[in-house]
Parts: sequence; structure tokens; C-alpha cells
Amino acid sequence: MRSVMSRLVDRLRLAVAPHVFEALYRSAAPLYDQVSKFFFAGQWGVWQLNVLSYIEGSRVLELGYGTGDLAVEMCRRGYQVTGVESSPRMHRIARAKLRRAGCPATLLVGSSAVLPLADECVDAVVSTFPSGYILWELTWREVHRVLRTGGTFTVVLSGELLPVDHRSKLLIRFHELVYGKRNITADIVWPDVPGFDLRHERHANEQGVASLLIARKCP
Ligand SMILES: C[S@@+](CC[C@H](N)C(=O)[O-])C[C@H]1O[C@@H](n2cnc3c(N)ncnc32)[C@H](O)[C@@H]1O
Repeated sequence: MRSVMSRLVDRLRLAVAPHVFEALYRSAAPLYDQVSKFFFAGQWGVWQLNVLSYIEGSRVLELGYGTGDLAVEMCRRGYQVTGVESSPRMHRIARAKLRRAGCPATLLVGSSAVLPLADECVDAVVSTFPSGYILWELTWREVHRVLRTGGTFTVVLSGELLPVDHRSKLLIRFHELVYGKRNITADIVWPDVPGFDLRHERHANEQGVASLLIARKCP
């Protein structure tokens, strides 16, 4: 009985979750910041910042920049930021945020599969909490093309809260319902794109753990 129930929940999750996420990037985009902050106990923004320690050089491309918080932070730290994001709604929110912050980033609407950038024109590529595009072979080919040799593509794949208080325990139960109990990052099958050295790292603080993939473009 239990396994029938859990299979049903799994099916429901697979059917509903992609639509909810897609809505968050499009019609419900104005709610995105509040939702990500609330449902991850304020850790979402902390996890995003983990990419910063892997950036070497000043020219950074951010894929799927969403509402632009990381782009603002990178601009403030002096990086020359270009972003490519597929949702025009997210783009508008990010553009307004960057304008308010006085940040001169180049934010483009487009796809990770066809980057409107020259070969080897960036020192680093970053992406936080990417959707399915991170598994596309075309994304990896394009990143390989625009990234300079020796540069890194750093991806924050996911974040997990630690059960430190009532609120985080409740949120963890909620995440299990939405994402399932399995460690999704362990199940990822990466596209076979030669030319990168891949490694995984986990960054922990007292409230949670972020899982990162770091891909260095080989000479
Ligand atoms: C889960 S959100 C993450 C946004 C942001 N990086 C963050 O950390 O909050 C995934 C983002 O990727 C964007 N996206 C989806 N497919 C894309 C693609 N092929 N190229 C660029 N961006 C894409 C979505 O519109 C959405 O804004």
C-alpha cells in the first residue's frame, strides 16, 4: 500500500512540478524572489554566492540569470557580466534590478543552446540552480566555445537545508514532497562533452549545504 502511495506521489510530482517551475520563470516571475527566499529559509542567495570563489579573470557569463541577484553581486565586485536568460519576464525583472543598483551588465534574452557570443570571449561561466538546459549537449558545446581555455564553468546544482530548527524541518519535509527523497544531483547523467575536467564540491554552512559542479576547460 505504501509503495503504491509513494509511486502515486512520484507520478503526481513528475506531472505537476515542471509546470509550477515553468510558471515561476514566466507568468509568476514577480513572485520568484519571495518564493525562493521563503522556501529555502534565506539560503538561496547564500548558495548562489558559492560560484564567486571559482571565478578567475574579469569577464563572466551567467546562464539563466533569473531575477539577477547574482549578476548584481558580481557587478558590485567589479566583474564584467554578460547574462543569457530565456524568460523575457525574468529578464525584465533582472534588468530593472541592475538599473536600480547602477550595474552595467549586458543582459540578453536567449538560450544557452545558441549563445550570441564570440569564441573564447569569457574567463568564466556560472549558472545557479539551472533547469533542464544544464543537461543539454548543446549548452555544454556552447559553453566550451565561448569560454577561454583554462576557464571554469561553475554550477550550483542544488541546495539542501539542514534540520536546525522547526522551520527548516518543515521546509525539508516540503522539499521531499516537491523534489522527492532521492539525492537528485547523484542521479544526474552528464552529456558526454569532451574538453572539460569535471569535479563536484559541497559547500556547507550552519544552515545548509550547496552542491556544485566545477568544469574546467582543458587545454
Ligand atoms: C531555477 S531558475 C534559476 C534562476 C537563477 N539562476 C537563480 O539562481 O535563482 C532557472 C532559470 O533558467 C532559465 N532558463 C531556462 N532554460 C534556459 C536556457 N535554455 N537558457 C537560458 N536560461 C534558461 C529560466 O527562465 C530560469 O530563469
